[in-house]
Amino acid sequence: MTVRQRTLDLREIKISLDVFFHQLEVTHLCHQFVEQRGIKCDKEILLIAASTHDLGKADPLTDPQILYKPGKYTEEEFGHMKVHSQLGAVLVTGRYPEAVAKVVRQHHENADGSGYPLGLTNDEIKLEARIINICDYYIANTSDRSYRKARTHIDTINLMKINKNEFDLRLLQEFFNMFDAEMEKVV
Ligand SMILES: [Fe+2]
Ligand SMILES: [Fe+2]
Repeated sequence: MTVRQRTLDLREIKISLDVFFHQLEVTHLCHQFVEQRGIKCDKEILLIAASTHDLGKADPLTDPQILYKPGKYTEEEFGHMKVHSQLGAVLVTGRYPEAVAKVVRQHHENADGSGYPLGLTNDEIKLEARIINICDYYIANTSDRSYRKARTHIDTINLMKINKNEFDLRLLQEFFNMFDAEMEKVV
C-alpha cells in the first residue's frame, strides 16, 4: 500500500468517525428530549433518522476539502455541502421504513422556509425532522468545528433564541424547558 493510499484511507476513516459520533450525539439528545418532555412522535423513525441524518457527508461525492474547510464557505461550497441531506436520503432508502429517508432529506428544512433542499415551512416538514433540526443545531454549535471552536451552552441557547423562527416554536420552547427542568433537579 502506498503512503498516499494509506493517507486517503485514514482520511475516510476520520470522516466516518466524525459523522458517526456527531450522529450518535444528536440521537442521544433527540431521545432525551422526546422522553423527558413527552413529545409524541414516531420514535423508531426519529432515532433511525437521527443516527443516519448526516451519512451524506461520508459519501464519496462529498468533497473532504470542503467538509473540513477551516474558513467560511463560499456560496458554491455551501451549495456542495447542502447536497448531503439528499445523498443521505438515497443511502438509507430501501434499508429502513420510507419515512426515514423523508426525515433525513428534511433535516435542514427550517420552519420559516429558509432551509434546504426545498425551503419547506412549518407542518410541511415532518415532525421528526423538526425535532432533529433543533437537536442537530444544538449539538453542532456546542461542538468544535473546523471553522470555529465550540460555543458554550448559554451562547448556543441565545443563538437559538435569535434564530427562533427557523424552528418549530412549540418544540423549541419544550427544548428550553428540558434544560430548565435539569437545572431545577440540581438545586
Ligand atoms: Fe446535516
Ligand atoms: Fe448533523
